[in-house]
Order: sequence, then structure tokens, then C-alpha cells
Amino acid sequence: MNFNIALIRGDGIGPEVTDEAVNVLNAVGKAFGHSFTFRQALAGGAAIDALGAALPPETLAACRASDSVLLGAVGGWKWDVLPGDQRPETALLGLRKELGLYANIRPAILFSELAGACPLRPELIGGGLDIVIVRELTGGIYFGDKGTGQDGAETYAYDVERYSESEVRRIGISAFEMARKRGKRLTSVDKANVLESSRLWRRVITDLGEGYPDVELSHMYVDNAAMQLVRCPKQFDVIVTSNMFGDILSDEASMITGSIGMLPSASLAAGNFGMYEPIHGSAPDIAGQGKANPIASILSAGMMLRYTFGLLDEAAAVERAVKAVLAQGYRTPDMAGATPGGDITAVGTAEAGRLIAAAVAAQAGQP
Ligand code: IPM
Ligand code: MG
Repeated sequence: MNFNIALIRGDGIGPEVTDEAVNVLNAVGKAFGHSFTFRQALAGGAAIDALGAALPPETLAACRASDSVLLGAVGGWKWDVLPGDQRPETALLGLRKELGLYANIRPAILFSELAGACPLRPELIGGGLDIVIVRELTGGIYFGDKGTGQDGAETYAYDVERYSESEVRRIGISAFEMARKRGKRLTSVDKANVLESSRLWRRVITDLGEGYPDVELSHMYVDNAAMQLVRCPKQFDVIVTSNMFGDILSDEASMITGSIGMLPSASLAAGNFGMYEPIHGSAPDIAGQGKANPIASILSAGMMLRYTFGLLDEAAAVERAVKAVLAQGYRTPDMAGATPGGDITAVGTAEAGRLIAAAVAAQAGQP
């Protein structure tokens, strides 16, 4: 089969890591008899420089004309001086909103090969970690009313957290369905002791739970959830939460898996359309040095195979290839420091990508 992918390489380390994900997808295509057609589009700082806007209309059009979107990262120091509504990050928010990508799936998996990189005591993570955060992505405080004003001599600013029942219901359904396919435990995270929007959230999720008697539902305040993630992360299977709480908790969860350079994400619309990106940012401090970890981007491509293209064997092959290369001891610098020892070989971005693509080919018996 042929699949059309809009490719937004973006800024900083975005292009380097995305190129390796493309190489791995091409290896998958060769091994399994598919072809992937990539159509490049600009967003973020690169688009500001070339076209004068963070999210040019032709980029949105290219995404809409594709089966899915593979994105690197956007942003960098160069554009930090721009006013809020012109920053590269607005491209990301615009893509999410315009493409209707309301369900952000962020798995936090601790690979056994990287157990030494986890900053928690070994007894807290015995047997590994496998959590999925389902983050609402097109509502809440990110997209509510915002503004600044003047109160006498004093300037004020505000951002409104607002959720409708239907917004909560559709992300709740994504989360319950995810939990049903996994460990059948769902923790809904809110701040219902303080926020009206959280009380609505909790009521809608509780009502939905009636339809999922096989899923064990619990509720947790966000401050407690932040604490429980480092106190006893194994208690979690699937977490569902709002846009902002999900942003914060997913960074926290990434750290307990050893390196933020490992974590992929899928942002899904109704139907199968999705945008796939590593959860790490553009990391301008190491951009262009060839040392960024491409695994988050490669695993994001794997999620694309699974969620948008329905290619489950192919997705599993990518995950196995990543594990195999880690098991052989290859590490990019973000992982190398945490796992010292004789059997570790330090590699850069391109070499890591080449090894993983070769491991995909090897599984199909190709040289
Ligand atoms: C993320 C990022 C973005 C967000 C930024 C870059 C706008 O932190 O995807 O988690 O806050 O959603
Ligand atoms: Mg974030």
C-alpha cells in the first residue's frame, strides 16, 4: 500500500531526528512491501524565516491532503523575542486545533535496557513501567479566552480554563477505550476541589464510566498525581487529563523513563488521521551537532503505523528494532551517561537511525 505523509521537520534537532524516522519508515516499506510518499511542509521558526508566518496556509493544506503528519519540533532562541501570537509554538497549537487533533496519546515506557537511567530507586520500578497519558489537546486554558488589560496603574493578564461536556466526553471515550485494550485501569486527573471546570470534567468522566464496567476508574487531584508519579508510578495504567495538566504530567512521566529523548506521541482526530511527534522539543543547545536521540521520533513513526495506518506488525517491528539496538548497547549521549559500562557504544543521531533501520530489515531477513 502507499501512504502519503506530510513531513514537518521543523527547527533545532527536529530535522535531524525526523530524517532518521523517515529512514526507518523506508526500511519498513522495503521489508513489508509498502511505500511512503513524503511531502515536506514548513512550520514554526523555519516557516517564519522562509514565508513570514509560523503556520502558512500551504502547510495546513499539505497536512489535510495527506494521510498523516510527521513532525519534528518547533521553536528556538532566535524567535524567543517575537510576541506571543507570532511565536513558532503557535504553529503547533494551530495544527492541533485546525486538524481537530483532540486526543494526545503519550506513552511513558521504561525499556528494561534503560532501567539504570531511571532516577527512581529500583524497587519503585521493579518489572518496568508502562503508563499512557491521554491528554486533551484542543481545549482548556490553551485555547480559552485570553488577554491583558489595565486596572488603573496596574496591568493584568488572564487565560480562561473552559471545557464543554462534549469535549470531556470525547477525550474520556478515547481514554476508556485505551484502558480497555491495556490494564483496564483509568485514573482521571483534575483539580475538582477548586475548579468548576474540573467538577464538570469529573462528572462527565464518572458518567462515562457506567458504560465501561470492565475498566476500574479512579479520580485524583493533579497535585497528588504529580506526587504519586514519583512515589509509586506502577499504580498507573492509563491517565486521562486536561490540556495543561497533561502537558505538565507528561514531562514528569518522561523523566522517570530515563530520557525525554525516548518518548513518542500521537495526536489523533476523529477517524484515523493523526500527527506524530516526539514529546521533546527542538533542543537548540544541541541542534546541528548530530548527537540528538532519534528514538522518540522513530517510535512516533511506529505509532503512526499502528494508529493511522493500522499496520500492527510493522509497528511492532519498529519497536522490536529499537529494543534490539538498545540491547546491543548503543546509546546516544542523553542515555549514555546513565548506563556506564564496558558494553556501551556511544553513537550519534544518524548512526542510531541507521542501526534501527538495519534492525527492521534484519527482521524481514533482508541484508
Ligand atoms: C508539548 C509542548 C507544547 C505544549 C508547547 C511547545 C506549545 O510543551 O507538546 O508538550 O505546551 O503543548
Ligand atoms: Mg510539554
